[in-house]
Amino acid sequence: MTVCSAPGKVYLFGEHAVVYGEPAVPAAIERRATVTAEPRSDDHVRVEATDLSLDGFTVEYSGGTGARPDVDVPTPLVEAAMGYVDAAVRQARAAADSPNAGFDITIESDIPLGAGLGSSAAVVVAGIDAATRALGEPIDRRELADRAYRAEFEVQDGQASRADTFCSTMGGAVRIEGDDCNPIDAPNLPFVIGFDGGAGDTGELVAGVRELKSTYRFADDTVTAIGDIVQTGERLLAEAVPEADANRELLVELGELMDFNHGLLAALGVSARSLDAMVWTAREAGAYGAKLTGAGGGGCIVALDPTGEVEVALSYTQGCEDAFHASLATEGVRVEE
Ligand code: MEV
Repeated sequence: MTVCSAPGKVYLFGEHAVVYGEPAVPAAIERRATVTAEPRSDDHVRVEATDLSLDGFTVEYSGGTGARPDVDVPTPLVEAAMGYVDAAVRQARAAADSPNAGFDITIESDIPLGAGLGSSAAVVVAGIDAATRALGEPIDRRELADRAYRAEFEVQDGQASRADTFCSTMGGAVRIEGDDCNPIDAPNLPFVIGFDGGAGDTGELVAGVRELKSTYRFADDTVTAIGDIVQTGERLLAEAVPEADANRELLVELGELMDFNHGLLAALGVSARSLDAMVWTAREAGAYGAKLTGAGGGGCIVALDPTGEVEVALSYTQGCEDAFHASLATEGVRVEE
């Protein structure tokens, strides 16, 4: 039995624009998906998943070939999660050159599903790592990140960047520009997350931005402007020093850039009333800055909170179902047992 975990992430800057080759900077957070893989003597795949949302639920299925499971699942979100698990199994089989490998897989996750915190990437990364290790064929992190990306790309019909999967594999903050992915230095930023209890449809939201971009010049320019913000943010992060207190001015500037980034994402039509409400609450409670994270449409915002007040303020905000601190996860995927 092999147990691996991988972190979720927030986007400091750059979601959506990254799909068009602009740079992005996601950062891993200490909310993890944990996957246990046990090889079977037959070629079946059995998956048990619990806590795949903050509310938690359980689903089980047995499949014969690793093809998308043909079973009743409680919600479309769970069905989507099963699709990711299945794609991870196929990647693990290919990596280990074991096309008929069967597994008993258990997934536990404290990352809200489909809410902009990279839940699917964390499950895919931890799943491929656990399954290949369980077969005695571990793969290095670059190959793992690449295979996890291919799994997401397949499930999301070709509408995935490498950001979520690379960040979850490596941990810390990373820089993504097309196929060029690298870890970067970042201080431990005071993240607070607000979650509206919902989820956006990443495929639909990405398609919506693509449509806008092909129709309006402003949308094209907005994507380029997001890329400019990312580059400024990167330069600031490079100036950070390890002592958190010494970074105050830099955090103020980073927060301002996050505010700009949120405004530009709203212009691209991917924010939502609940996300805007949480963003404004966080700012008014003293956050240096706040923005939606991930595909948008619903889900999570991320704020930089120097005060310790933002979490409580968010918890009283209409439309906010949960608010929590999240520290930077310096470790990416790891073996748990
Ligand atoms: C989704 O977490 C982030 C998007 O930029 C899509 C992607 O990068 O794959 C919207």
